[in-house]
Amino acid sequence: MDGKHILLGVTGGIAAYKSPDLVRRLIERGAQVQVVMTAGAREFVSPLTFQAVSGREVRSDLWDESAERAMSHIELARWADLVLIAPATADFIAHLSHGLADNLLATVCLATSAPVAIAPAMNQQMWANAATQANVATLRARGVHVFGPGSGSQACGEVGEGRMMEPVDIAAAAFGVLPAEGPLKGRKVLITAGPTRERIDPVRFISNRSSGKMGYAVAQAARDRGAEVVLVSGPVNLCAPPGVRRVCVESAAQMYDAVMREVDDADIFIATAAVADYRPAAPANIKIKKVNDCLEVRMERTIDILAAVAQRERRPYTVGFAAETNDIENHALAKLTKKNLDLIAANEVGDNKVFEQDDNSLVLLWPGGGRQELGAGAKTELAVKLVDFIVARVSGRCDVTDI
Ligand code: CTP
Repeated sequence: MDGKHILLGVTGGIAAYKSPDLVRRLIERGAQVQVVMTAGAREFVSPLTFQAVSGREVRSDLWDESAERAMSHIELARWADLVLIAPATADFIAHLSHGLADNLLATVCLATSAPVAIAPAMNQQMWANAATQANVATLRARGVHVFGPGSGSQACGEVGEGRMMEPVDIAAAAFGVLPAEGPLKGRKVLITAGPTRERIDPVRFISNRSSGKMGYAVAQAARDRGAEVVLVSGPVNLCAPPGVRRVCVESAAQMYDAVMREVDDADIFIATAAVADYRPAAPANIKIKKVNDCLEVRMERTIDILAAVAQRERRPYTVGFAAETNDIENHALAKLTKKNLDLIAANEVGDNKVFEQDDNSLVLLWPGGGRQELGAGAKTELAVKLVDFIVARVSGRCDVTDI
């Protein structure tokens, strides 16, 4: 977020006590933050608190002549790269959806061409109310980003949906809304992640132990380097990284279709998914009953997605992963050649190794005998190293020793 201008609107809800922390989180990420408070917000938190954490005078009043002279409401609206409202009360959401402009923050929201994001915070019944839901739907349809709300215990003593998202998560989500910057700006990176599920009957499937963590970390790293990232994901228990477009699939066939829909304009393809190599040849339409002592399920090969991408005439820079239990580098080299890849990342898998873990260890191999160890470490760190390596290769820099 280096140097990005975030106009943080604070409206009058009890969650406003968390907003100074949000200012700090945004500044930690390199943003400049200008706080605009509504009159209601000032009842909960002193403007002085925001001034202290943001280093800027807080604005509240549309009719403050001296402040307007320094930066008018229109200049404020132009200054912002993102208008973020946290907390956004039910009242303010209603204001925004009706386009009212009876206070400074509402006026800035109307006058800005920057993206607008809201982090709603209110009593669970107010959130569930049809009027609030209709207002939020209107805002979404107009392109306003809605962060949360989360659910849990509320200041009013009730439990339910309506809690403001935590400041650290709002800061991450805000980053995802800002236009991407970095060496991969203008490049599209297509990534597969997670396991696939191959149907045996309507209630059973064959799958594997992939958690998707490596692929999601690679997606986050590519987005952090400025890429437009599309993540084609099998079923996992992970949230999409901020700013990453996720396409959810189940089977290898669906993953293949989703990749083929996205690959035409992709510059880089990274296949981290643990795609099933075989699927039941004739999945049953009704639940298979326990009748015989033995059940045989005939399996047929799935399409190799990575090889299919690498075979295309106009193809992206194509990266595979090799998950091996033994003779790792030899197997990986064989896949590099057989699938005609630009790069392969080899790792050892097995009991308590890699699958479902936060750590990994990677060796990179590329045609012509190239070899680079990325070593062992957290998947998030290795993902950054891998993406930096790919950036160096794609941009034609031969010297990659600084990675
Ligand atoms: N892959 C793929 N589509 C498949 C199978 C694999 O895109 N149907 C990709 C994986 O995402 C990975 C690479 O191919 O990037 C290697 O996957 P791996 O499971 O290690 O090897 P396989 O090619 O399946 O061969 P084997 O299972 O015999 O080791």
